Amino acid sequence: MQLWDFAALTYYRVLDRFSGSLNRLAVDTLGLAPGEAVLDIGCGTGSLIPELVKAVGPRGRVVAMDSSARMVAVARKRAENAEVRLADACDTDHGAGQFDAAVALGAFSAMPDVPAAIANAADALRPGGRLFVFDVRLTKNTRTTRLLRAAYRAIAGFSGADVVSELRTVFDRVEPVFAVEGETTTVVMAWKVMDTATRWACTPCRPAG
Ligand SMILES: C[S@@+](CC[C@H](N)C(=O)[O-])C[C@H]1O[C@@H](n2cnc3c(N)ncnc32)[C@H](O)[C@@H]1O
Repeated sequence: MQLWDFAALTYYRVLDRFSGSLNRLAVDTLGLAPGEAVLDIGCGTGSLIPELVKAVGPRGRVVAMDSSARMVAVARKRAENAEVRLADACDTDHGAGQFDAAVALGAFSAMPDVPAAIANAADALRPGGRLFVFDVRLTKNTRTTRLLRAAYRAIAGFSGADVVSELRTVFDRVEPVFAVEGETTTVVMAWKVMDTATRWACTPCRPAG
């Protein structure tokens, strides 16, 4: 049995009950409007899905996805008015430009190919679309961080990728929602550039001509 299938059958049954504050933060920060389309990447047991469905209303669209069959099975039970896909976010075309917003809670760092998963997320967003990310960030070279990196690698196959740096290679604007003490965790919003003209118009060093 895979790690995340095991998690879906065991400790996620408890974690699920306590995810409310983070879920609300994600929905509020994204500022979802009725009628919007939103993608939940690495949705786990789908505790965020009902909040997303409520936020985008009956004219909106919620798609959630995860690579663990057990997670998807649990998520589908609570996915009224949402579609839950079984897929690998590192190797999936979510649908180019189909989403106004996306969210990844504790998900990217758990994936084997973080750059590919982030590139696929960006591709799924329309120009101007936004992505809310909550994740671990183990970049410091302290003893604690080295231990955390080793533990996460052993438990969940952590690749060592820095989610924030990877977001910055794809998204033009990546901003912390708030600073986290110790910086072992990150909460950020990333925006996909509107178009090339807007990008240059916003950049101080716009080239002449
Ligand atoms: C820490 S859990 C977070 C789940 C959920 N977002 C939450 O907040 O409860 C990480 C999730 O990422 C999923 N995952 C790991 N690798 C994945 C991949 N390559 N593609 C899609 N999902 C993946 C796992 O199955 C697991 O459900």
